Amino acid sequence: MRLQQKVAVIVGAGQTPGEGLGNGRATAMRFAQEGARILAVDRDLASAEETTGLVRKEGGECVPFEADVTRESTLAAAIGHAHKLWGRIDILHNNVGVSIAGGDASPLEITEEAFDRVSAINLRGTIMACKHALPIMRDQRSGVIINISSMAAWVDYPLVAYKATKAGMIAYTQQLALQYATLVYNGLWFSPLRSALQAFMDETTPPVTGTAKVKLYRGSCAVVGRKAASSLYDHALATYEEGDAFQHGAAAGFIHVWSLPTKTWAAASSAADTVGV
Ligand SMILES: NC(=O)c1ccc[n+]([C@@H]2O[C@H](COP(=O)([O-])OP(=O)(O)OC[C@H]3O[C@@H](n4cnc5c(N)ncnc54)[C@H](O)[C@@H]3O)[C@@H](O)[C@H]2O)c1
Repeated sequence: MRLQQKVAVIVGAGQTPGEGLGNGRATAMRFAQEGARILAVDRDLASAEETTGLVRKEGGECVPFEADVTRESTLAAAIGHAHKLWGRIDILHNNVGVSIAGGDASPLEITEEAFDRVSAINLRGTIMACKHALPIMRDQRSGVIINISSMAAWVDYPLVAYKATKAGMIAYTQQLALQYATLVYNGLWFSPLRSALQAFMDETTPPVTGTAKVKLYRGSCAVVGRKAASSLYDHALATYEEGDAFQHGAAAGFIHVWSLPTKTWAAASSAADTVGV
């Protein structure tokens, strides 16, 4: 069980009545299956209680809690309640999100009231929940925050407030990771680790602009040595300066870059090996 003894606060753990399982409810049930203790937070207490019943039926530990994400004090109370009950908060899952239900509309029809309502629910609610969970996680020196955005942030989506707030959630989450995540196991997408990897790839993947040594033999051409500022191997260990044969395996960490001539050369060698030449 991957979440044994972990404490999860799921905000929006109920669901809008209808077919199927809402994301928040499904998350509560799945986390509980993995051993987490759940605070099921929702504006609709009856819906949070329904989630609690489903989790308990499966043998999980769950407590319902009423809070409205548009009121910071209720979010603070929810976080405080989980902390008081279980002494820690390992996961904050921000699931609440509305679009049409909040009066969202197209660019020419959106009203100030609708935009403010959707922003307060989708974006401000997430920000305020994090505000109260972060100090606890910082003191524990561990914690995971999951903010549910939407593909609408990236793809064509005609309703203004949902689009803008879901995109805002991504930017906010990215900033949170930059400020607070010093060690990232998962959720790599917006982490400093990912940016560092990207910078590394940008630095090392442009075409090499250094010097290459080429060996011409019986009409074939093979790169036998390569020297560039972005090389990943230690020049002192490579044989570039010393002789003709470039030993790819000589330097630890060397990334073997195949070029067409070396591929041709390798194919010719292995063909020669096969026929015992
Ligand atoms: N359903 C989808 O197809 C879809 C697609 C992409 C992203 N999402 C996102 O996933 C999340 C969940 O979507 P869903 O369709 O499962 O939701 P849902 O409507 O089934 O559940 C949302 C829950 O949030 C609660 N809620 C609403 N306003 C609240 C408030 N002010 N304070 C506290 N609780 C409140 C509701 O009572 C409900 O229980 C949302 O953030 C949504 O934007 C959904």
